[in-house]
Amino acid sequence: MKLAYDDYKLYLDYVYGAMVIDMEGNVVYMNEQCASYLRVDKDASIGRHASDVFPSTKMIEGLSCEKPRIVYYNSYAGLGISIQAPMFKDGNKVGLIEYDVIQGSEFLYDFADKYRLFLDGEFKFLPHQITHLGDNKYTINNIVGNSPGIRRLREQIAQAAHGSSTVLITGETGTGKELVAHAIHNLSSRRKHPFVRINAASLPDSLIESELFGYEPGAFTGATKEGKQGKFEQANKGTLFLDEINQMPVALQPKLLRAIQEKEIDRLGGTKSIPLDIRIITATNRDLNRLIKEGKFREDLFYRLNVVEIRTPSLRDVPGDIPLLTDSILRELNLVMGKKVTKVDPAVREMFQSYDWPGNVRELQNVIERAMNYVEGDTLLPEFFEFKQVFFDKMVNRESLLESDSPIEIVKNAAERSLIRKVLVECGNNKSQAARMLKISRPLLYKKMRRLEIEG
Ligand SMILES: Nc1ncnc2c1ncn2[C@@H]1O[C@H](COP(=O)(O)OP(=O)(O)OP(=O)(O)O)[C@@H](O)[C@H]1O
Ligand SMILES: [Mg+2]
Repeated sequence: MKLAYDDYKLYLDYVYGAMVIDMEGNVVYMNEQCASYLRVDKDASIGRHASDVFPSTKMIEGLSCEKPRIVYYNSYAGLGISIQAPMFKDGNKVGLIEYDVIQGSEFLYDFADKYRLFLDGEFKFLPHQITHLGDNKYTINNIVGNSPGIRRLREQIAQAAHGSSTVLITGETGTGKELVAHAIHNLSSRRKHPFVRINAASLPDSLIESELFGYEPGAFTGATKEGKQGKFEQANKGTLFLDEINQMPVALQPKLLRAIQEKEIDRLGGTKSIPLDIRIITATNRDLNRLIKEGKFREDLFYRLNVVEIRTPSLRDVPGDIPLLTDSILRELNLVMGKKVTKVDPAVREMFQSYDWPGNVRELQNVIERAMNYVEGDTLLPEFFEFKQVFFDKMVNRESLLESDSPIEIVKNAAERSLIRKVLVECGNNKSQAARMLKISRPLLYKKMRRLEIEG
């Protein structure tokens, strides 16, 4: 059967959710996709008021618009982006069409990822300072990864951002807990207000209390004349991030609990309570349940903090994201270090996949940064990672290496390549001298260099 111009109604059934209302707000048209997305009966919905069919619709307010507009929605049907366009007949406004552009969080995050890559490409010629303005370094779009674990993490961040519940972020060291805390704040309606962080581990116990709650003039010897605002007060209307909460002194925990429960604080030496509107986010890389058993953390405080728990996956749990993370770290480091490393040798990728990364993303960043110092050309080669002996040890045991046609050959080549490169560097690239040191003939050295793709 051939498609004809008259089939336009059919076309409408194959775009994402589309719905039309008249100026009274009654549904005139709805396609199948829209009905199934909203979980309503299409035919029964025609003629009914849009807000009866879909209570959280923004179409009614859209009726007053003169131009198309973008609508971001988060409803029981899911997250999405749609466009509303007023419709005109003979110059008179007769209704409004709304159609989805992006439907569901999966598409939304995918879109966000692609858009970020697009922007990275657009902006890569701008100086580092401009593309890394403090504020937008820590948004949900800076969380790299496409694995189910990271997608789930983004979804949890989005959910948490919409509410105001206390969030406890758990996860191993270097898994992005601080990044997550920032991302929640920057995605929430509090984003225009302060994000204040305090790290319980970096302060002596004696200082934490005054840092958190502030003090009145003359509250103790050494207190300044003006008194001081604590982090709680500084974070008012915004988010207070209590990092490494596991290090919070037990003696201070009841006061913290009270502040969170009552939503008000007392400055040291103060006489009146100060009411506050704050979202609390905490993070720990230790198991709080164990600390509770050991008597180092109060159970009542734990329950207060653990309203929403977000667990950041360790790199071992999301190995599929290592290549993406590697590339994004390289882009970042190229800017900072003024290098142009764009390629990663397959053997390096292999090493990265087979290592278990106890320090997670932070360790990956550090390892790449260290190796970058040795790079002359545009490729990250295995020999730049000699400082990381475990890589080579692991490589030999790797299943996938054993699955290759010539596992021994690969390891031998890597070792040979590494030695020759080192000797060449030591000899200032003098081939005769290098050949002598390697105890081989000059022609054989040239032959090996060709085979092992060593530039010289
Ligand atoms: N999924 C990710 N995408 C991009 N960068 C990440 C990701 N996870 C972590 N990072 C980066 O790794 C580094 C370490 O992250 P962060 O400081 O948030 O770790 P952490 O979980 O707070 O660790 P610790 O428990 O040691 O404090 C940061 O530079 C952060 O931006
Ligand atoms: Mg941290």
